[in-house]
Amino acid sequence: MRYPIIFDTDPGVDDAQAIAIAMAHPDIELLGLTTTFGNVDVATATHNALLLCELAGQNIPVARGAAVPLVKKKHPAPAHIHGTNGLGNIALPDVRGDAMPQSAAQFIVDTVNARPGAVTLVAVGPLGNLAAALQLDPEIISKVKQVVIMGGSIKEGGNVTPVAEANIFNDPHAAAHALTAGWPLTMVGLDATHRCTLKPHDMEAIATGQGRLGAVLADSYAFYRAFYQQTMGFDGCCPHDSCALAWLLCSELFTTARGHLTVVTEGDAEGQTIFAPEARPFIDTRWTRTPSVDVCLDADGPAIVDWIVSTLH
Ligand code: BDR
Ligand code: CA
Repeated sequence: MRYPIIFDTDPGVDDAQAIAIAMAHPDIELLGLTTTFGNVDVATATHNALLLCELAGQNIPVARGAAVPLVKKKHPAPAHIHGTNGLGNIALPDVRGDAMPQSAAQFIVDTVNARPGAVTLVAVGPLGNLAAALQLDPEIISKVKQVVIMGGSIKEGGNVTPVAEANIFNDPHAAAHALTAGWPLTMVGLDATHRCTLKPHDMEAIATGQGRLGAVLADSYAFYRAFYQQTMGFDGCCPHDSCALAWLLCSELFTTARGHLTVVTEGDAEGQTIFAPEARPFIDTRWTRTPSVDVCLDADGPAIVDWIVSTLH
């Protein structure tokens, strides 16, 4: 089976690796990249998306998207994790191509409408582009094949606050729209991605397998690795965004549960994703009003890392 996908992204070191997988895997047809602020500002994200495609020798449409959150004030980009250029502050070649004239949201709407029932949206950054696409054309809810989100956390706790994962925290109002829209959706959050550790020897294998693109993936990884060493105390990195594609192609490596998501948009818990398992009664219906979705609660980390390396080797 071949999956036509739009990959919504804020590259970003781990985004870059996931983009490489989307371009390399024979079972993925990459219809386009849509960009958002997040790890970097949206201009840098768009530049990086174009660059990664050029390094792979592929002509993939890139559409520029959300520059700021829907409601909240934008937080500064996490330059200490991804570098100010999003790719570990390594020197980068010039980009020759340009982004598409239409916005990311318009690109999503047009592409989904052109192939009803076929297109999967894989989103691995803040969710403003998905929220904007829903606003432009709510009928895409019944026309997408599925939506896979890297973001959120159920039992694992947060990575940017005690309870919030970065992509949801960066735009909780957009996440609230996208995660509760009623389309077929799977959330691949920290409960799964924190089970995966990509080690330096894994990156060496990827570097050799990916030519000019591999050098950028490996060199930017070195910066990301230093962040993990300092803050998490281990030698390796979580390949968050690649896990969304791993779920799409190897869902048997994940443990999922079905239920209702609520996104906290204000206050100390902003960005938290609250999960109410399906068919479990609670004291009030407020946590079970949203449409049912699938949520990853665990994953076979070593097997996912093997899949990433074998895809890019
Ligand atoms: C997510 O946040 C970003 O920094 C990463 O690219 C990933 O999408 C992990 O919390
Ligand atoms: Ca990302």
